[in-house]
Amino acid sequence: MSVVRELVKRLIVENPVMIFSKSYCPYCIRTKDLFDDLNTKYKAIELNEHEHGSEIQEELKTLTGQRTVPNVFIHSQHIGGFDAVNSANETGKLQEYLKQNSKL
Ligand SMILES: *[C@@H]1O[C@H](CO)[C@@H](O)[C@H](O)[C@H]1NC(C)=O
Repeated sequence: MSVVRELVKRLIVENPVMIFSKSYCPYCIRTKDLFDDLNTKYKAIELNEHEHGSEIQEELKTLTGQRTVPNVFIHSQHIGGFDAVNSANETGKLQEYLKQNSKL
């Protein structure tokens, strides 16, 4: 397995809420604000500030079919971008995702 693939998998498994982000992207900021508002801790990696950022982004595309950020995982489950997180909050699904234990 490539180093970048291992890094991405480790980040997803080790962080209950994992956000792949870019520091200047408005929807990334809104996504982080949403978790802040819910008092939910998360790990965010800013791909534009990471030495392997573009490789991580390619790996996320391979893994999820999604190349855009934010790309959010909760307990190793792929959720998607801001719209997915925001509508999951509004339907109450997000709370369910957050309560789940890691399947791994
Ligand atoms: C999450 O959804 C609830 C219920 O619709 C809403 O009241 C709340 O403002 C939302 N939280 C955020 C951070 O958007």
